[in-house]
Amino acid sequence: MIRAKSFFTSALVLTASVLMVACERPPVISQQVGYRGTGMVEMDNPRDKVKLVKLNALPEASPQADPNGPTAGSLYKNVQVLGNQSVGEFTRTMVAMTSWVAPKEGCNYCHKAGEDFSADTLYTKVVARKMLTMTGNINADWGTHVGVTGVTCYTCHRGNNIPTEVWYSAADPGKVKGFTGWKYGQNTPVSANGYSSLPLDSLSSYLANDGQVRVQGGDALPTKPTGPSGTGASIAHTEWNYSLMMHMSSSLGVNCTFCHNTQAFANWSNSTPQRVTAWYGLRMVRDINNVHMTPLESVFPDYRKGAAMGDVAKVGCSTCHQGANKPLLGASMLADYPELKKISTAASTTPTAAPVTPASPLAAALNVLGKIFFPTGKADIDAAGSDAIKTAAKALSTNAAAKLDISGFADSTGNQDQNMDLAKRRAFAVRDALKAAGVAEDRINLKKPEFMVGSASAESRRVDLIGIGL
Ligand code: HEC
Ligand code: HEC
Ligand code: HEC
Ligand code: HEC
Repeated sequence: MIRAKSFFTSALVLTASVLMVACERPPVISQQVGYRGTGMVEMDNPRDKVKLVKLNALPEASPQADPNGPTAGSLYKNVQVLGNQSVGEFTRTMVAMTSWVAPKEGCNYCHKAGEDFSADTLYTKVVARKMLTMTGNINADWGTHVGVTGVTCYTCHRGNNIPTEVWYSAADPGKVKGFTGWKYGQNTPVSANGYSSLPLDSLSSYLANDGQVRVQGGDALPTKPTGPSGTGASIAHTEWNYSLMMHMSSSLGVNCTFCHNTQAFANWSNSTPQRVTAWYGLRMVRDINNVHMTPLESVFPDYRKGAAMGDVAKVGCSTCHQGANKPLLGASMLADYPELKKISTAASTTPTAAPVTPASPLAAALNVLGKIFFPTGKADIDAAGSDAIKTAAKALSTNAAAKLDISGFADSTGNQDQNMDLAKRRAFAVRDALKAAGVAEDRINLKKPEFMVGSASAESRRVDLIGIGL
């Protein structure tokens, strides 16, 4: 009996130790990132931290150059984007670019040996010029994501010709021969989907196209046009979303709770500020890929392009982040290279559309076309309100299928019933003004009026105009 028990115990210990191989070796340190009881916790292991610190060590910056004196534009023959730098700064930029992108090859990586430096013979020089513009644009236009920290070539390249973390579009696996049938673009573990069975090409949909990320659906099977570009919100559609989320989490070395309170993934007010930064990050990455990377397709030689679709290597969250929640652990190399702020982005030959960044992610999520504000206790539309109505009417006239949801709100001061009535009257006033502006009544849906619990602010005395299908 005793022997049987000790046999049983040692079998248990053995099983446990075998199982432990697959587990993470302690110590694992948890850090609370949300309110108590929400389970919003980040796990860290000091051993991984050591690796991360090594990977993100900064190269030593060379002594700064004199920003004064003749400009590169006045001295050299073919400078299109660095013309505003002083000659000292220009030389420092050339040396820095060499060490960040081509430390082994040297200047001859972009300038053909024996030729004048002004010649654009090598494709790498043409690419480097566009990369300069791109770096300038990221720093100038996307402060919403990169803050004052900014980026340099090193953030992505880290001494490599091609950044280590890039992605290409995958071929549609389509119908696979044999009993597995149609794989629906899934069940092929690759790094882009965090080695899961989730869709393998979600990055094309979300990081190069404007796939809608808000897609929680209740239908099991895709019954409407599916994939992120379709309108059908199904569980299958949601899987694309999760595949992207796996990419974002693994790129930053964090789990879902770094950005979400997992009892309400969609809810912005329960999310962390980092989710807002990530929201801008998604838009920035689309801009990088569509405005800067893809137009280089004709410049790159075939051997640099993706095997499946012949596309250029593209940028994902991991290209800059490389496993850290802030690239290079938050260190700003841009501060050491102030001359990079002098890149003339206007001279770019690629179109550089100004990023359209709505006031808040929530507004973007709901497609809020306008907000009309009212004085306390009143339902009269002022001049700013009339303008918002005109804008909404114009937006509707561009798309015959689109509709408007109207929600009236009142603040929390005073009598609750009167507030509900006030919110309703405000919505009616806006509906009538829309009709007067030429919008047919059947395109206007009046939503239940609301008053803002616990809020006395002017922001809550309003009507929201929400575009549907625009
Ligand atoms: C990663 C590619 C790259 C590397 C490496 C590189 N350059 Fe350049 N170089 C460029 C680009 C791009 C321009 C044009 C910049 C512009 O249009 O504003 C340029 C322009 C120049 C010019 C101006 C020529 C003219 O008359 O128009 C000089 C001089 C120059 N580089 C010197 C160097 C030296 C010296 C090195 C090595 C220390 C070097 N470059 C390394 C990409 C590179
Ligand atoms: C946001 C990330 C990012 C930044 C910042 C960036 N690059 Fe790149 N770069 C890439 C990617 C991705 C590729 C690969 C494109 C491909 O191969 O299709 C690339 C390719 C290149 C190439 C072509 C290399 C080859 O051998 O084909 C050169 C040259 C280059 N970059 C120079 C620069 C310079 C110079 C800077 C800074 C002024 C810079 N890059 C900044 C992402 C970046
Ligand atoms: C770095 C921040 C970040 C991390 C980490 C992250 N998410 Fe997200 N998540 C976002 C952002 C931003 C959006 C909205 C994107 C948009 O609207 O374009 C989003 C949207 C979602 C949505 C859609 C919600 C809706 O409105 O229908 C779900 C579901 C979701 N995430 C699940 C996850 C899961 C599961 C994980 C972990 C595997 C995760 N997220 C990790 C930032 C993050
Ligand atoms: C061009 C480089 C670059 C790319 C690509 C990039 N980021 Fe970032 N990201 C940064 C920089 C730089 C910072 C640090 C900003 C700062 O210090 O204020 C940052 C910060 C963040 C933060 C805030 C982290 C914190 O601890 O506060 C989040 C979240 C984030 N990025 C998510 C993403 C996601 C998600 C993607 C892909 C959709 C992405 N990033 C792509 C450069 C990049």
